[in-house]
Amino acid sequence: MAAAVATPLKFTFSSSHGSTRRLQWRNSQRSIKRPYRGVITAKVEHKPPPYSLEALEPHMSRETFEYHWGKHHRAYVDNLNKQIVGTELDTLPLEEIILATYNKGDLLPPFNNAAQVWNHEFFWESMKPGGGGQPSQAVLELIKRDFGSFEAFVTEFKAAAATQFGSGWAWLVYKANKLDVGNAVNPVPSEEHKKLVVVKSPNAINPLVYDYSVSKLYSPTRLITVFQLPLLTIDVWEHAYYLDFQNRRPDYISTFMEKLVSWDAVGLRLEAAKARAADRESKK
Ligand SMILES: [Fe+2]
Repeated sequence: MAAAVATPLKFTFSSSHGSTRRLQWRNSQRSIKRPYRGVITAKVEHKPPPYSLEALEPHMSRETFEYHWGKHHRAYVDNLNKQIVGTELDTLPLEEIILATYNKGDLLPPFNNAAQVWNHEFFWESMKPGGGGQPSQAVLELIKRDFGSFEAFVTEFKAAAATQFGSGWAWLVYKANKLDVGNAVNPVPSEEHKKLVVVKSPNAINPLVYDYSVSKLYSPTRLITVFQLPLLTIDVWEHAYYLDFQNRRPDYISTFMEKLVSWDAVGLRLEAAKARAADRESKK
């Protein structure tokens, strides 16, 4: 019987079932509740890449995958499951866990693990064997409109990935509305909506949190309609490239862009982003 005195953070949200609840996070000791009878508690999965671990060789080695997916990604999953078991979070989809624990930039303990699980799944799916080359016509047209040329986009994306100080991520994002960026560099909230932007983020932060708003997220519509949807990401944590490239991050970034990017995935994500933006506008 756990007797820890909770130190609840003042964070109120409505669940996906519409009832208003208070998310309580215990700062030190945590009493583990048994799941409510009849409530399915989802365990976050350690999803494999959509290809075999050696499929990206010689550009990304099997050894890198064995460490990066097999150990780092797995650790984020295992640690997240330990953190959320028995809490209000363990029945929520991963995206909602991320947004709830982002807590307006005052991160709750599960945030980093939750975001890193999502980021890595997204990263694996941002690559494919025989990747690189150029995007589909629909993606290419938007890139040319918003960056001037494909080459200019590549230059900006590479620069964002190379200049993210320390650990983090670089992203191509479809910006469907204003961004509320608390702890990420770029973009500017006053920019015109509905365009592609390149952003970089530190540590586990991802663009899902840029549009953060408790009132909009949890009531009355589901948060899925208010996401900023990323289209592409590159992991620039050192663990992503050190075995293959040692400290040569720019070489890793160039290889990613030229040999690994799945423009098919970007095209599908762009369609999804447009659909979400349209759905969101229809509910205003
Ligand atoms: Fe990573």
